[in-house]
Amino acid sequence: MGKIAIIGGTGVYDPSILNNTEEVRVETPYGTVCAVAGEYKGKSVIFMNRHGEGHSIPPHKINYRANIWALKDLGVDRILATAAVGSLNVAMAPRHFVFPDQYMDFTKSREATFFDGGEEGVIHTDMTEPYCPQMRAAMKKAAAALSRTSHNGGTYVCTEGPRFETPAEIKMYRQLGGDLVGMTAYPEVALARELGICYATVAMVTNYGAGISENHLTHEEVLAMMDRFSADIRRLLLYTIEELPETRDCICAVTPGSM
Ligand code: HPA
Repeated sequence: MGKIAIIGGTGVYDPSILNNTEEVRVETPYGTVCAVAGEYKGKSVIFMNRHGEGHSIPPHKINYRANIWALKDLGVDRILATAAVGSLNVAMAPRHFVFPDQYMDFTKSREATFFDGGEEGVIHTDMTEPYCPQMRAAMKKAAAALSRTSHNGGTYVCTEGPRFETPAEIKMYRQLGGDLVGMTAYPEVALARELGICYATVAMVTNYGAGISENHLTHEEVLAMMDRFSADIRRLLLYTIEELPETRDCICAVTPGSM
């Protein structure tokens, strides 16, 4: 079994959920990455903080390629990513967990592939099932065991940020079939697939999208919500790690070009 990585997003910064931790530094073709390596119940787990020290890196400046490359280099074959999200779907209420099965990309400026042409030629990656179904099933089981409302499936709309959306944008995303809105799923999910790593997101709904919510949105409100439920998120992550079967039975490992 390969290692499991937790990519901690907004409000999930603490690697102390793991035992026997040590800091690791990985040099990649895209830059140097720091993470924490540790263990949970005999499984090797890497913890990576997506937004860097003190939540200093905004979503559009995250070095997604370096992060995912480093995880591959460390022997990771499954990534559990956390995300604070706004909801466009009234059935997915604040405090609910959602495990998305689809995404839509509305980002504008991000380096989104390892396949830039050159010697490898042109490679197109299949994205029919971008989020690992085996990992989503384990998360669903974990949420049920913790008596938490969760939704297995949903479409995550990834925006460029760092600003929140206008009500008009939220209306458009809803009409297009979006359920959640956030700023970090893409290109993380696609890069993981390019390297044959399973990827799943634990999305915590912190608010309804602009215009659905009657209030103006603030980052502080998102942080406060994540803070209030950080113990639940931690429990969900650890339970999921326990639940994950030893072997992967999904399509995620089929790397592009090998199909
Ligand atoms: N929009 C974008 N990202 C978010 C939101 C939102 O409403 N809430 C938490 N992350």
